[in-house]
Amino acid sequence: MIEDLVNVADFERLAEEKLDAGVAGYFFGGAGDELTLAENVAAWKGRRLRPRVRAGLDSWSTRVELLGGDVSMPVLVAPVAYQGLVDPDGEEAMARAAAAAGTVMCLSTLATRRPRPVAEAAPGGRRWFQLYCFKDDGVTRALIEDAVDCGYEAILVTVDAPRGGNRERDRRTGFAIPEELGVPSVEAALGSDRAVTIEETFELMDPALSWSDLEALASDCRVPVLVKGVLTAEDAALAIDHGAAGVVVSNHGGRQLDRCPATADALPEAVEAVAGRGAVLVDGGIRRGVDVAIALALGADAVLVGRPALWGLAVGGESGARRVLELLREELELTLALCGCASPTGLTRAHVQKAPAASVYSD
Ligand SMILES: Cc1cc2nc3c(=O)[nH]c(=O)nc-3n(C[C@H](O)[C@H](O)[C@H](O)COP(=O)(O)O)c2cc1C
Repeated sequence: MIEDLVNVADFERLAEEKLDAGVAGYFFGGAGDELTLAENVAAWKGRRLRPRVRAGLDSWSTRVELLGGDVSMPVLVAPVAYQGLVDPDGEEAMARAAAAAGTVMCLSTLATRRPRPVAEAAPGGRRWFQLYCFKDDGVTRALIEDAVDCGYEAILVTVDAPRGGNRERDRRTGFAIPEELGVPSVEAALGSDRAVTIEETFELMDPALSWSDLEALASDCRVPVLVKGVLTAEDAALAIDHGAAGVVVSNHGGRQLDRCPATADALPEAVEAVAGRGAVLVDGGIRRGVDVAIALALGADAVLVGRPALWGLAVGGESGARRVLELLREELELTLALCGCASPTGLTRAHVQKAPAASVYSD
């Protein structure tokens, strides 16, 4: 029973038991030695909260405003490809879960559904679209137009995947994305009447996307554009200088460059470089409401969760994903209360410190 699962780790265990080994390897795995994958989780655990007591509060709210709209909590659903592999309703179920939890669902270019049916599945929900850029500018623009026409309120341009990472789990299990799934949004943008494979799609993507290409895209786009996949102050500043409304500090959940920094470690320099000129979001390894609080204290406006929501979907479909999001919201609210903050905006750098060297994680 979903109600018996008390935290994200419970969902992770059950999802691993339930999924076929190849599919589990695809969703759980990272690149190379999976060091960055593990450090993403460990780095949040390597911070401690400095609670303030007797704050005179008797009510707490996790609600925040993000890109001009309200969300029930600063925890969004990250774009994760091929959700139809773990649930027959795939991204539609995920969109309903996110809407029920009062937060934003980010739909991947590599989703098993086009933007419209996902929008129609959860008409009251907020949605952003994750974009991979294509060599043919017409395809990129068709993807954006379709999403914006369907009410997607922002575009997340993913910049950390000029090539796919070295995913050794997939090589060991021999896992390949089933061809019949296709890539519906790309098929529509290409005007193709047949399923396009993931390999064909990657061939068509533009590995050479430049900052000036990004600037042109952002200036033509009717909705805010955020750059997803920066890990340095330099790139965070460049993104904002080239018209991005914000950045997502991300290493693609440890699936691209192994041994790049954990996102908790990269976040502070990105926050400093953006210096209030745009939104700063972060993802990678967030598994607890406490992790969310630490990210906010380090200066993030919000976080995204990839695998946790996916584990929820795999274990219990829409209600499983919704439960995972609710658990994170409940944990965040409790953390706020115990830190003496009425709302997420009350968290500051003064609320966070490094764990002692003797801890399970130290740097
Ligand atoms: C199976 C899988 C597929 C993903 N697909 C995409 C994608 O299509 N586009 C993208 O920008 N990020 C993709 N990501 C990265 C997520 O958006 C996010 O950055 C990452 O999952 C965050 O780490 P977490 O899973 O530890 O929360 C994917 C991640 C996973 C695990």
